Amino acid sequence: MDDKVKDTEAKRHRWLERCPEMGTEPVPVARVTDPNYFEKEREKIFKRAWLHVGRVNEIPNKGDWFVQDVVVAGTSLIIVRGQDDVVRAFHNICRHRGSKLALEKKGTSTGMLSCHFHGWTYNTEGKLSYIPDEEKYYEPLCGKQNLLPVACDTWEGFIFINLDPEPKETLLEFLGPAADRFEGYPFDTNPTELIYRGDIKANWKLVMDAQAEAIHAAFLHVNPWPGLFSGGDSPFAKYLDISFYGQHSSYTLAAGTEYEPTEVEALALSMGPSVSSSGDDAIQTCKKLNPSNDPNWIFDSLVLFPNFIIYCFGGVFHTHQFWPLDHKTTTWDLRMHLPAATKASELFSQEFAKIFLRDPFLEDGVINEEMQKAMESGAMSHFYMQDDEALIRHCYWVAHNAVMAED
Ligand code: FES
Ligand SMILES: [Fe+2]
Repeated sequence: MDDKVKDTEAKRHRWLERCPEMGTEPVPVARVTDPNYFEKEREKIFKRAWLHVGRVNEIPNKGDWFVQDVVVAGTSLIIVRGQDDVVRAFHNICRHRGSKLALEKKGTSTGMLSCHFHGWTYNTEGKLSYIPDEEKYYEPLCGKQNLLPVACDTWEGFIFINLDPEPKETLLEFLGPAADRFEGYPFDTNPTELIYRGDIKANWKLVMDAQAEAIHAAFLHVNPWPGLFSGGDSPFAKYLDISFYGQHSSYTLAAGTEYEPTEVEALALSMGPSVSSSGDDAIQTCKKLNPSNDPNWIFDSLVLFPNFIIYCFGGVFHTHQFWPLDHKTTTWDLRMHLPAATKASELFSQEFAKIFLRDPFLEDGVINEEMQKAMESGAMSHFYMQDDEALIRHCYWVAHNAVMAED
């Protein structure tokens, strides 16, 4: 075999070689259609892993709180910034007779959280501080029947919880080498959050898969994003890097070299960052972006198992979260994080940046639902992935290892 042929062979399977243990077998369809398999994922993954629930800047002040329903684990959580400035999570359950403590999605308090049912009141550290008509109870309860805590920690301003009463590892241990993948990225300078959220009738892994590879963009998104990631010597998409960090993984993508923004897009880009022209601001502070220093770099993406993806561009970042509701329904939560707009032109630019994503993501959602239906038909038994889909293969492999692990 001459050197040129050897080189081509090596490039075809270069990402697999970074994690050969995951193998090359096609994946059984049952992993996305079997309710029993999903029940194991519920118990062995979602009730044990560290799960992202939001950013610290959603609760900037002492007493601020928000609610995160975690349907897959059958619970609702309240995440509160205490008077001591510590961010904590509790089951959103009043200890009197079990009412949901917070009924709204978010709010602020002056240091106390009161139940709507009979007024039991807790401080922001979760301590039961006041009970109306306390003397009529048969035992002292204040300070005893406190809110039920859930493990909670933060990383780079992202809040994570763990529903295991005794997590097997800390958040930093869980993240492992992925913890410094975006070291120095200016997450705090993008406080504006624009959100798309919807329930997709497809398994959580199928919905996540479409956000963990870019090769479909040249086909599925050819109308809204013609040539955004493809063109020239890369007809489908050019992966600059794929790396694995234990359960987690990352990929780096090049922009299409022949991409031409439309007139209105070019106008919007002249007033603020977006995905198609992200600038290089963040590269100055996060040296780990664009590991191969490719001049056509467009973004780095970190896939944190099981259900969270962060996309870091030069001037904006996005997060995608996939919350299973059952084995074939997923809440997909996409948040675009942008710098604060200070004038009308920047607001226009941000609205354009949001709309620029709308149609491709609708296309993804539609195809996800069609895939689920097709797989439910029973007509096919396995699906196949190539080397640029290595992150997806990796997620299925990690999930399956967790499902099959002995307790
Ligand atoms: S259930 Fe909350 S005060 Fe009664
Ligand atoms: Fe897509």
